Amino acid sequence: MPRISRFYFSMAILYLLAGIGVGLNMAVSQDHSAASAHAHINLLGWVTSAVFGGYYALNPEKAEGWLPWSQYAVYALGLIVMLPSLYLLYSGRPEIEPLVAAGSLAVVLGVVLFAVVIFTRGRPETAAGGDAILPAE
Ligand code: HEM
Repeated sequence: MPRISRFYFSMAILYLLAGIGVGLNMAVSQDHSAASAHAHINLLGWVTSAVFGGYYALNPEKAEGWLPWSQYAVYALGLIVMLPSLYLLYSGRPEIEPLVAAGSLAVVLGVVLFAVVIFTRGRPETAAGGDAILPAE
């Protein structure tokens, strides 16, 4: 599996644990005000990160170089700014909104960079390198 996929899955599982933690906390406390933050932690943090990691694992020729790593850095930075501040926003801290906006813009940029990764050719020399998935004989 390419290194960037491991990075994505390591990040994804931490967000799933956090997202489930927020969900359990809502269920136990009967206070569902953080439901939107819970949904974004699970869907942007867990599901989307895992999909990105899965894509790079299936397309190892796209997993090396400045473009995928810039995509990872921008998306990971966006999440770490956006998700905790979104949780605080829905927990009654409206003054945190500019941070939510800044993080969201980084997340959007990370998604745009992922679109560029999809629509550009990868590096053929890494297609079957390392522990990449080899085509069936
Ligand atoms: C043990 C795991 C989980 C628990 C205890 C949990 C709990 C909750 C609770 C209490 C709500 C609020 C419901 C309401 O106010 O109507 C909620 C909403 C939601 N959850 Fe979860 N959840 C869990 C896992 C997940 C996962 C894994 C995902 C997505 C991958 C997810 C996505 C959502 C979505 C989309 C909503 C609706 C948010 C909204 O209405 O704004 N949840 N969950």
